[in-house]
Amino acid sequence: MTSIKSKVVLITGASSGIGETTAEVLAKSGHIVLVAARRTERLNALTQRIKQAGGTAKAYTLDVTSQDSFKAVVAEASTEFGPVDVLINNAGLMPLSPMAALKADEWNRMIDVNVKGVLNGIESVLGVMEQRGGHIINIASIGAHRVFPTSAVYCGTKFAVRAISEGLRMETKKVRVTTISPGVVESELAHTTTDSETKAWLEDFRQQALKPEAIANAIDYAIAQPDDVNVDEMIIQPTQSGS
Ligand SMILES: NC(=O)c1ccc[n+]([C@@H]2O[C@H](COP(=O)([O-])OP(=O)(O)OC[C@H]3O[C@@H](n4cnc5c(N)ncnc54)[C@H](OP(=O)(O)O)[C@@H]3O)[C@@H](O)[C@H]2O)c1
Repeated sequence: MTSIKSKVVLITGASSGIGETTAEVLAKSGHIVLVAARRTERLNALTQRIKQAGGTAKAYTLDVTSQDSFKAVVAEASTEFGPVDVLINNAGLMPLSPMAALKADEWNRMIDVNVKGVLNGIESVLGVMEQRGGHIINIASIGAHRVFPTSAVYCGTKFAVRAISEGLRMETKKVRVTTISPGVVESELAHTTTDSETKAWLEDFRQQALKPEAIANAIDYAIAQPDDVNVDEMIIQPTQSGS
């Protein structure tokens, strides 16, 4: 328990992996967790578990690529729980492949979800946060710092998330902005890779993986700091990865 004040926290991509575990950890810290993604049944199961454990949670079906839907979720959540104090832009996908495979649909999808989805989130909360304060936490990646073969576009989207976070932090005096850059973490992230050779390599590469709690605890820490303390960025990797 690191939290000192209960906050209204909206987490995108909370139906699995890092987002799902973050919702559970933040609920245990006493926050009201609003979980959003496309797979509503998974979100409902999550909110039920959180409520059974004594927490407060609500599920919102959301495709982060839709500006209108994102704004509607924030409006609905604010009416019921008050303004969103913390937005965690976590939804993302990682269909890796060499560029020569020309999987342009997958490139576009990554840009839509990983970059435009983050911008849609920022657009939905920033006006109110600039008035009353708030915290935007963007989940980037170690791929926002280093580029690997097969991950040119994925890393491009994560470099963009990091750049957007940095720029926003420099412009605002009211809103805390944190970038979280995980190394390999157990989740469903590799499931979207369709290129067979890359899939086989990825399975091996992802053997040394952190539990999602490692990222959730870092997020919990960043939120728990006083309002005048901004945690700019955390890079969190498995010790054994040796990088
Ligand atoms: N795991 C890692 O090794 C790792 C490392 C570095 C960074 N990250 C980043 O961490 C974040 C979370 O990924 P994860 O590892 O937890 O993978 P994950 O288990 O695959 O979770 C991804 C989440 O994103 C959601 N999502 C995908 N497209 C969406 C859309 N259009 N609208 C709303 N939600 C959408 C998925 O939910 P629905 O399908 O239900 O919509 C799912 O809940 C991603 O941004 C990823 O890039 C992960």
